[in-house]
Order: sequence, then C-alpha cells, then structure tokens
Amino acid sequence: MQRNAAAGRLSFSTDSGQAVAHGTILFIAVGTPAGEDGSADVRHVMAVARSIGREMAEYKVVVNKSTVPVGTADAVHAVLREALQERGVIVPFSVVSNPEFLKEGAAIADFMRPDRVVLGCSSDQAEFIMRGLYAPFLRNRERIQVMDVRSAELTKYVANAMLAQRISFMNEMAGLAERLGADIEKVRIGIGSDERIGPHFLYAGCGWGGSCFPKDVRALVSMGQDQGLEMGMVRASMQVNERQKHRLMEMLHEALGPTLKGRTVAVWGLAFKPETDDMREAPSRVLIDALVAEGATVQAYDPVAHENAARLWQGEPLVQLAPSAMHACDGADALVVVTEWREFRSPVFEELAQRLTERVVIDGRNLYRGEELAAAGLRHWSIGRPAVAAAAPKAPAALSWPAAA
Ligand SMILES: NC(=O)c1ccc[n+]([C@@H]2O[C@H](COP(=O)([O-])OP(=O)(O)OC[C@H]3O[C@@H](n4cnc5c(N)ncnc54)[C@H](O)[C@@H]3O)[C@@H](O)[C@H]2O)c1
Repeated sequence: MQRNAAAGRLSFSTDSGQAVAHGTILFIAVGTPAGEDGSADVRHVMAVARSIGREMAEYKVVVNKSTVPVGTADAVHAVLREALQERGVIVPFSVVSNPEFLKEGAAIADFMRPDRVVLGCSSDQAEFIMRGLYAPFLRNRERIQVMDVRSAELTKYVANAMLAQRISFMNEMAGLAERLGADIEKVRIGIGSDERIGPHFLYAGCGWGGSCFPKDVRALVSMGQDQGLEMGMVRASMQVNERQKHRLMEMLHEALGPTLKGRTVAVWGLAFKPETDDMREAPSRVLIDALVAEGATVQAYDPVAHENAARLWQGEPLVQLAPSAMHACDGADALVVVTEWREFRSPVFEELAQRLTERVVIDGRNLYRGEELAAAGLRHWSIGRPAVAAAAPKAPAALSWPAAA
C-alpha cells in the first residue's frame, strides 16, 4: 500500500463524490455481517449504492465485490435507478457481480494469481471493461468465468459452504475415529489421494471460524428458508462445528478432571487461523470463555492477535496475554494449541514438559506426533487420534553398530 500510494497509484478518500468521479469501475466491498435471523445484512451495500446513484454523472460499472445474497445485484440496480430518477437524470450504468474468493492471510497472493475470476454480467459492455481490468493478472491462463449475475452470487456461497462442509465432515469422522481407535490423519491421507476427493480442506481440528464461513453458511440456510427449502446438509455442518468448538474443553476435562476451577491453562493461538489477527468466531473464544466461566486462569499467546484479544477480555483478570509461547506455559497445568501458527509446529518438548505442571498437551490442530511428546514425558490429546500417555523419560538408546560381517 505504501509503495503504490507513494507512486500515486493508490489514494483514499472519505468524499463519496470524489470517489465516484474517480473511475469508470466502482467496487462495493463493504461488510455484509449476519443479521439477527442469519441472513446477510446488505444495508451497507445499499448505502454505498445510494451514494453512487446520488453522485454519478457518466457511465459506471458498479461491481458487487462483497459477499451478497442472490438478488442483491438486482436490488443495487433498482436503488441506482431510483436515485437517478430522484435527480431527474439519465445516466447509463451496469451492475456486475464479482465475488471475492481470496483467503484471508493470503489476500495479495490470491488476488495476483486467482484460481478463477467469476463475473456475473448481463451487459457486453460491462464484460468487456471487466475483462480489460483483470487482463494483466491473467496473462498466462484465461481464468475468467462469465455467467449470469445470480449464478455468480450463488457461486460464492456454495464455495464457502462446500469448504466448511468438508472440514465439518472430517471433524465428525474424527469423533468416530477417536472412539474406534483409528487415526483420522491416516484416514485423511487415505481418502485425499483419491482424485475425486482431493487433499484440500480435509484437516480435522477444533472447528472453523472467521468472518466468512460462519456468516456465509448461515446466510445460505436463510436463503433456502426464504424459498421454503430446508438446507439440511449446510445446517448440519454448522451444528457439527459448534460441537467441535467445545471438544478442546472436553479434552481438558478428560485430562485434568471434572472441574478446572483454580487451574491454569496455556492457550497457543487466538486468531481463527494463521497469518491473520482476525478473531471473529474463532474457536479460541469459545474455549477461553468456557475456561473463565469455570474459574480457570488463561495464559494466552498469539503472534499477532493480542490487540483484538485485549479488547475482548478487557478487565477480565483470569485472561492474561503472555509475551511468548513458552512464557504462556510457565506454571500452567496444560497447554492447548488452537491455531496452527508455524512457530508452534516444533517446540522443544522437553522444555514444555518442564513448564507444564500436569504435562498435558491438547493439540487442537494435530500438529504433533504422540510418540514424540510421550518420549518427552508429556501426555497428548489430539483430534481424531488415540490419546497417548507419557512414557517414563528414557535415556537415549546406546548406539549399536552392526556386527562386522
Ligand atoms: N475478509 C475476507 O477474507 C473476505 C473474503 C471474501 C469475501 N469477503 C467479503 O468481503 C466483504 C467485506 O469483508 P471484510 O472482511 O473486508 O469486512 P470488514 O468489516 O473488515 O470491512 C468492511 C469495510 O467497509 C467499510 N464500510 C462500511 N459501510 C461503508 C459505507 N457505507 N461506505 C464506505 N465504507 C463502508 C467499513 O468501515 C469497513 O472498513 C464481505 O461481504 C465479506 O463477506 C471477505
């Protein structure tokens, strides 16, 4: 941003007239939070559309980049037409749906090298302009998919619901694997190598969160309801996810007993996933709130999310933010790994064993191998794999050379 702002390519304004006059293509990328009934709240999108309608003086392509329910492009069209009528002017415009598929935490890379660019267009002129806009990013392979506006709008929701469903499905299977003494990680590899299934989004863990999956999945259920359709599979993926977010607390009880009052628990990872400080609907929140409700002290660490966490638990003496991952473990009974940040992947287990009073590690993202922890004297719980008890610390085996032939 700094580089492009310095070069005069990027500027910011709070003056809507100036912003509308600036270009032919106007992106609407405001938030579409979940309303009380789960439907997406498009008030901000409509507010921007009204501003554009009040200001535009020549042909514009108005692009819906926000994730919006099917039919919103039509509603934006109607708002623009109304605003122009109020002004008594005729100005041509097109509305395009261009849903955003970037992954939070990898936004720029995804933008520069998109898997696909979906354009919901009903005008040749708008399609021509949008193709020109994206051409520099798609030089080596055509990745634009042009479709009708409603299909484009629905594509975004179906993509997110499918991804959320894959994770929830694996979490449900992980529960079964735990009870049957199977290892979900082996099952994941076993099924992911099937080309029809593919390896992505099959990782069992402590649940999905963030700003998109929960609200988009809820919005899809609500869209179905409006049409008199029960979205059973989508709803089930939400239910499984809610249950999964409580799994870490269940494991803590299995490890430490029926009450955690007076216990201290280290939590590694607060953001809903690595490479972001976003804590919206993060599994860490469910865990930490449950720990506080039981009277446990939390020593939490995240590489980037402390500012958000401090706001969430402001004035809560039971939640402390530690300056480093290892500091969080000092004097704690157990460690719970909630977010798979790279820096959590290979801690020195012997050091953990020294710091954790009860030597319990709850591995909510299946980062560690149970045998390795056991060898360091730690007890290991993970998702969809049998719990591993600590082995008595062993002296390293003496080297034995094969007898000379
Ligand atoms: N975050 C993601 O990874 C991601 C990925 C794909 C799609 N999306 C979609 O993109 C949209 C935005 O998501 P986000 O995460 O950036 O949300 P956000 O809440 O972080 O940002 C939205 C911004 O819009 C601004 N805003 C609200 N009303 C406005 C108005 N009337 N005029 C000008 N600005 C206004 C807010 O101040 C805020 O800065 C959502 O529809 C979301 O579903 C987000």
